[in-house]
Amino acid sequence: MNSQSGSLSSESRKSRPLSSPASATDALLRTDRVGKLYPDGQVHALSEVSLEVGRGEHLAVMGPSGSGKSTLLNVLGTLDRPTEGEIYFQGRPLSALSSRNLDRYRSQELGFVFQSFHLLPALTALENVQIPMFETPLAPRDRARKARRLLEVVGMGHRASHQPKQLSVGERQRVAIARALANDPLVILADEPTGNLDSVSAAAIMEIFDQLHGQRGVTIVMVTHDADLARRAQRIVRMQDGRVLEPTRSR
Ligand SMILES: Nc1ncnc2c1ncn2[C@@H]1O[C@H](COP(=O)(O)OP(=O)(O)O)[C@@H](O)[C@H]1O
Ligand SMILES: [Mg+2]
Repeated sequence: MNSQSGSLSSESRKSRPLSSPASATDALLRTDRVGKLYPDGQVHALSEVSLEVGRGEHLAVMGPSGSGKSTLLNVLGTLDRPTEGEIYFQGRPLSALSSRNLDRYRSQELGFVFQSFHLLPALTALENVQIPMFETPLAPRDRARKARRLLEVVGMGHRASHQPKQLSVGERQRVAIARALANDPLVILADEPTGNLDSVSAAAIMEIFDQLHGQRGVTIVMVTHDADLARRAQRIVRMQDGRVLEPTRSR
């Protein structure tokens, strides 16, 4: 994994042209019969989930409330551990990574976007975007410069000095996406990123995802309830009762 995060070279290393649909040989992320039983759980939040996410793929995950969508994103992002099965990133089992390499995977290769943004209220947009960069050797001036550039990518360059409370919810989500991009992740894991947004703001967020996917080759795994937004992904995976159902379409 890279140790040069934040540099232009790491960006070019990671940016890739649009790949063809996922194939068995080019999975960036793969789950092999992953199960999750929470300690107090009566039912399996995940059961026998075998899923491949192709390099550069844009995947939407849909399913009723309680079907395991958030649990799936959390285990992919190592915010939580599966109780059965294995997850592979670039062919390497996550369970074999040292805690240091797991931290690195989480902070350097992944970007998280949540329904409720999770911005720090006392910080400006520019400062919020820099938070993940504190774990990198980037100099303060470079951090700020990069954060400003990422705010411009999401159309928020003019709001850099604003705090979250001074922003609309749609604007807050844009800042959260800029923060997710701080370390040039290969993958963005987004859990209902438009769930708190009106349809216009939601469409704007989807534009940003389309752009990240199309122009930067970022792999996106996005949970959504919105069928119209899900259709903009390359593939829709449906979940029910902790299981992944047969894929219904791909383009
Ligand atoms: N921390 C937890 N402890 C126990 N059960 C949980 C926990 N988180 C989720 N669950 C259960 O796991 C199942 C899947 O939840 P979740 O992944 O949040 O579903 P979704 O995101 O699709 O709504 C649900 O039955 C939920 O109640
Ligand atoms: Mg959820």
